[in-house]
Amino acid sequence: MRTPRRSAIPRRYLMCPPAYFRVSYSINPWMDPGKPVDLAVAQAQWEDLRDRYRALGHTVEELVPHPGCPDMVFTANGATVVDGRVLGARFAFAERGAEAAVHARWYREHGFADVREPLHINEGEGDFAVTASWLLAGRGFRSSPLSHAEAQEYFRRPVIGLDLVDPRFYHLDTALCVLDGGDGEPGGRGAEIMYYPGAFSPGSRAVLARLFPDAVVASAADAAAFGLNAVSDGLHVLLPAGAVGLFGPLRERGFEPLGMDLGELLKGGGSVKCVTAEVRPG
Ligand code: ARG
Repeated sequence: MRTPRRSAIPRRYLMCPPAYFRVSYSINPWMDPGKPVDLAVAQAQWEDLRDRYRALGHTVEELVPHPGCPDMVFTANGATVVDGRVLGARFAFAERGAEAAVHARWYREHGFADVREPLHINEGEGDFAVTASWLLAGRGFRSSPLSHAEAQEYFRRPVIGLDLVDPRFYHLDTALCVLDGGDGEPGGRGAEIMYYPGAFSPGSRAVLARLFPDAVVASAADAAAFGLNAVSDGLHVLLPAGAVGLFGPLRERGFEPLGMDLGELLKGGGSVKCVTAEVRPG
């Protein structure tokens, strides 16, 4: 395979410092309220990621953290923004319910005219991954299948529903990452992804293999190290450093993998992508 020439596209990200991060309830298998969280370490790891984005030329804006929202650091769940249009979140668990309004308000205050409050449960980019042509959408643990139709109608992009079957990979962004969205032209350069097949139902695995025959396929160990919970700018791929098996395949394809340590935030069941919401311009 010829190594394609990659280029980074400057992005706009929304993050929230983990000032009140803690594991006081358990809504995914990674969360153990018995395990203490070192806030200073969590904050330092989070700042590392934020500063790395900025050093790469990306814009990072920050939400003000709220004491009553210990999972607020996971901003990917707060909304989905495509073509400058915002589909708000509706959380599956009451523990995170209040976060949705904070995100919706942020978008309204930052000049976004189209901010839709959703009818159906969806946890933002946790379950919606965006390519130039489609939305890939997870269901099974959090987002309702009904939210897929709602997103398709709102964004006017085909939504490809994918069934998640392993509770450790409860959001799509724990099992799949868009590395390059493609150019969206018919017959043009297609999107490229990496994913862990074991997280998906047999039918969804077959759909992914058909749409993305050249995908990077992650091992169980790299998936368990949260290696798919990554962010790509088209060239750099920021991912948990522990996912060692992914670095080679990414380099072979012309990407520059950058290992990050977000171990403290993993206690909440999230890593690089979970703490990064992408604001896609119109
Ligand atoms: N504790 C959070 C939850 O279970 C973690 C969210 C992780 N976010 C993500 N995009 N996967 O809701």
